[in-house]
Amino acid sequence: MNWQGRRVLVTGGAGFLGSNLCHALAERGARVVALDGFLFGGGANPANLDGAEVELVRGDIREIDLRNLCERAEVIFNLAAQTSHMGGQKDPLADIAVNAVAQVRLIQAAREAAPEAIVVHASTRQFYGRPLRLPVDENHPVNPPDANGVSKFAGEQYWMLEHRVEGRPVVSLRLTNCYGPRLRIRDARQTFLGIWMRQVLEGRPFEVWGGAQLRDLTYVDDVTEAFLLAATTPECHGRIFNIGGFPPASLLSIAELMVKLVPSARYLTREFPADRARIDIGSYHADDRAFRAASGWGPFVGLEEGVQRSLDWFRTRLHAYI
Ligand SMILES: NC(=O)c1ccc[n+]([C@@H]2O[C@H](COP(=O)([O-])OP(=O)(O)OC[C@H]3O[C@@H](n4cnc5c(N)ncnc54)[C@H](O)[C@@H]3O)[C@@H](O)[C@H]2O)c1
Repeated sequence: MNWQGRRVLVTGGAGFLGSNLCHALAERGARVVALDGFLFGGGANPANLDGAEVELVRGDIREIDLRNLCERAEVIFNLAAQTSHMGGQKDPLADIAVNAVAQVRLIQAAREAAPEAIVVHASTRQFYGRPLRLPVDENHPVNPPDANGVSKFAGEQYWMLEHRVEGRPVVSLRLTNCYGPRLRIRDARQTFLGIWMRQVLEGRPFEVWGGAQLRDLTYVDDVTEAFLLAATTPECHGRIFNIGGFPPASLLSIAELMVKLVPSARYLTREFPADRARIDIGSYHADDRAFRAASGWGPFVGLEEGVQRSLDWFRTRLHAYI
């Protein structure tokens, strides 16, 4: 698809993944509206949209008039979510309100105002729970380890229902841990790698919890490409896909990579905190062959290059992200 002049709505557009997607769409000439409620504790940051020709609407999908926002949208990238696992455990009602109830609001508004729009929904590998086998394909049983996993699964299923019943072209991408520029690095709320990078750049030791767990991190540019391809590839419509990336690495080997890239970096290892261990999923890596086959997607940015690029990006912008 040629994005030039296309009307696109990105929910969660000031967050980490949403803002990177907004930049890519605007660079391709799309007319982008970014909706974001700047929820406390999430990845929204006004600096994320610096330099992007995007209309930012500050509003909450739980209450804003979504019909107006959907009007004439050709593609909706739906990334707004309550993403905190601990937050979902502490306040499951707030979590459902965004990840499930407000999804139904958006579905109804889009049905009225943008019945033809393609929807790409940001889903998560989280609700597979502790994997029964690796790598995890889309047929792996769903067994959410926490309330956030339940609400994200419900939100995804409402969208897929919209495809089955109303025929809307919907694609759901079950993402693994993503990282790169515009990540929330202030604290550990958005992957361990965020806080590690902050501490490395500040010359402080970072903490590795456990260390043997495997993760297949996806660099944000590859995630953005996956979203764009999901929208523009008709073979993907009506389907759910895992998105992974390169072969997995243990947290300890990722820590060692940080030290290789920044020789002054230091880390400490400690036991997984008990409250987090209860909802931890252990090792994960995705079998994403279905998406690669349907869309031609493949990751380009390996871990070493991606971490290097991220550190370089944050080094000059640290003040805006801490
Ligand atoms: N980053 C990852 O590693 C990852 C992994 C799996 C799934 N995902 C999914 O990708 C999507 C984007 O995640 P992210 O990492 O960019 O998180 P993020 O927190 O940076 O982005 C989410 C954005 O949604 C906004 N938002 C939340 N509730 C809202 C509401 N009620 N109204 C309007 N805006 C609201 C937040 O303010 C935030 O800017 C989410 O749906 C998330 O579940 C991300």
